Amino acid sequence: MAAEIIDGKALAADLRGKVADHVARLKAEHDLVPGLAVVLVGEDPASQVYVRSKGKMTLEVGMASFEHRLGADTEEGELLSLIARLNTDPKVHGILVQLPLPDHINEELVINAIDPSKDVDGFHILNVGLLGTGQKSMVPCTPLGCLMMLRQYHGSLSGLDAVVIGRSNIVGKPMAQLLLGDSCTVTIAHSRTRDLPGIVRRADIVVAAVGRPEMVTGDWIKPGATVIDVGINRVDAPERGEGKTRLVGDCEFDSCAAVAGAITPVPGGVGPMTIACLLANTVTACCRAHGIDEPDGLTA
Ligand code: GUN
Repeated sequence: MAAEIIDGKALAADLRGKVADHVARLKAEHDLVPGLAVVLVGEDPASQVYVRSKGKMTLEVGMASFEHRLGADTEEGELLSLIARLNTDPKVHGILVQLPLPDHINEELVINAIDPSKDVDGFHILNVGLLGTGQKSMVPCTPLGCLMMLRQYHGSLSGLDAVVIGRSNIVGKPMAQLLLGDSCTVTIAHSRTRDLPGIVRRADIVVAAVGRPEMVTGDWIKPGATVIDVGINRVDAPERGEGKTRLVGDCEFDSCAAVAGAITPVPGGVGPMTIACLLANTVTACCRAHGIDEPDGLTA
């Protein structure tokens, strides 16, 4: 294997350490405890795991965690009322509504009901616009984590060719904006892209965020390129025993690692950074809400 492994777990632990230091300072110097409210509607098992993990890590860095679990049949109006209460609650600096929401609830309406200054997901239309125009905003956690890993590995990204595979509002589009902000030449590829392997082969940086297990193979990768694998896909693993599964990314790890200069593993790459960035965004939101200087290194 040629590639350096970008250790997202270790970088996330560093970032959480920085967050914890700032939380301690906010408490000591300003008598402030940053608070994160997480709202889960329904019983989606993957979402339940994420929400539990977010709550646990929030407490571990010394912040306040407020969990709101609502039934799958919750009416849109009830969810909007909860968000209105959280928007005005001074103990809450960040609000995250776990997606996906049940089909009868309008996701856009709910996201845009969150006070943009508490929108630690960076999904509110105002934050999307601010990011797109290069202004100070709340930055979506997964792309922010990817950017931090890329900066850590490369230093400057200026002039590099970056290909983002996937055009979602959560990852692909904001990732492209962030890379552009760091002066990369950015291509957004997607399911209709012609000659995807040929496009990816041009890239110094590949960010794969398509949700298709092991779609990107080593023969797509330019030798020495950096591969950031956002995918978290659970696949059958009969070799581990009957009914067993394992997690894989959107990139076939072994073949990509044989060619790339650096690569993030799955698990242990982008995933831990996403949650660490959520905590960082909550501290950033708390500082901004109180007119306190923002610590360096917590946002883009
Ligand atoms: N569901 C999957 N990823 C995310 C995320 O980044 N934020 C929220 N709110 N829900 C998600």
